[in-house]
Amino acid sequence: MARKTYGIDFGTNAIKVYKKGEGIILSERTAVSTVGSKKRAIAIGEESYGMFEKAPPSIHVSLPLSRGVVSQLDDMVSLWDFMGKKVTGKRTIGHCQFYIAVPADITEVEKHAYSKIITQSETKAKKVCLIDKPIADAYGLGMDVEMVRGLMIVNIGADTTEISVLSLGGIVVSRLLPYGGNDFDKNIQTYLRKKYNFMIGLKTAEHIKKELVSADQINDMTSVVGRDVISGLPREMSVSAEEIYPLTKDIFAYMTSETRSMLEHTPPEISSEIRERGIFLTGGTSLIAGLDQYFANRVNIRVNTTGHAEKTVAKGIGYLSEHPKAAEKYAVPLEV
Ligand SMILES: Nc1ncnc2c1ncn2[C@@H]1O[C@H](COP(=O)(O)OP(=O)(O)OP(=O)(O)O)[C@@H](O)[C@H]1O
Ligand SMILES: [Mg+2]
Repeated sequence: MARKTYGIDFGTNAIKVYKKGEGIILSERTAVSTVGSKKRAIAIGEESYGMFEKAPPSIHVSLPLSRGVVSQLDDMVSLWDFMGKKVTGKRTIGHCQFYIAVPADITEVEKHAYSKIITQSETKAKKVCLIDKPIADAYGLGMDVEMVRGLMIVNIGADTTEISVLSLGGIVVSRLLPYGGNDFDKNIQTYLRKKYNFMIGLKTAEHIKKELVSADQINDMTSVVGRDVISGLPREMSVSAEEIYPLTKDIFAYMTSETRSMLEHTPPEISSEIRERGIFLTGGTSLIAGLDQYFANRVNIRVNTTGHAEKTVAKGIGYLSEHPKAAEKYAVPLEV
């Protein structure tokens, strides 16, 4: 029987699944709602995330990945069991192989936790391979990874920012910073509660971020509905970009100073090619307005962006699932 092959980017915010021969078939919020001590999943993805901070005590809503690692393995396994059935329409997935993208700058134990999502689930996997995310990201950008002598990618995701330098098919250095777009959502939520006694959910905070967060100071406003902490009643409030800006600027400054420092410590024969090509911003948070220019000014380099910033890792892991010969060099196979 021909094996089905899947490439997976388990992101903090969204799990993206690529199926060989078909492309990206699924992108779901990394959230699961379970019931009972056996953690039976009743909802995943956006439906589960909608229950976050609202569910009754009998339903446990979990966001099982954080800062680039699997923080709740049992919840993640429940999520995958539910998702696997959704992917295939069958009760179990059999005889499949999986390529999983994992951050480069985490421990081997943390990397293996990603493979356990598959091996501890009902999925009957034939083969599970781990591939470092920066390599997948580079393929997703359409790079000739084997040949390129200097490539720098900054993947700004939901919970992490991964800064990597690649050369001739290998990772020269990669650093995982524990900051991403979710930090802006949390900062916005905390600020409004403390300053105005105004409670909003993280979904609303994310909406405010997408409307108002910019790397430059702008003058926009947006209106959101929340709850007054004192009266307990719902109310509407206008939020301005001006007051949100201070909540984000230190994180932007940290990301750019780390990028600049990594570039300064890169051997000149590699950094000269990076300077020629410019750096690449990927990850959903790279879509923040003005961030490319901000990086260009602070790192003093040309910056390239991509329209499919959230999907480059999934596209790259997809490319490697379609080209097993190319994948062979990077894939670390695990016993299943
Ligand atoms: N237009 C936009 N403006 C600002 N932020 C955005 C925009 N679109 C998406 N985002 C943010 O991008 C993040 C999701 O990006 P992505 O899918 O790359 O993260 P992830 O892979 O799940 O996370 P990680 O790589 O950190 O584990 C979320 O925080 C989301 O709010
Ligand atoms: Mg990601």
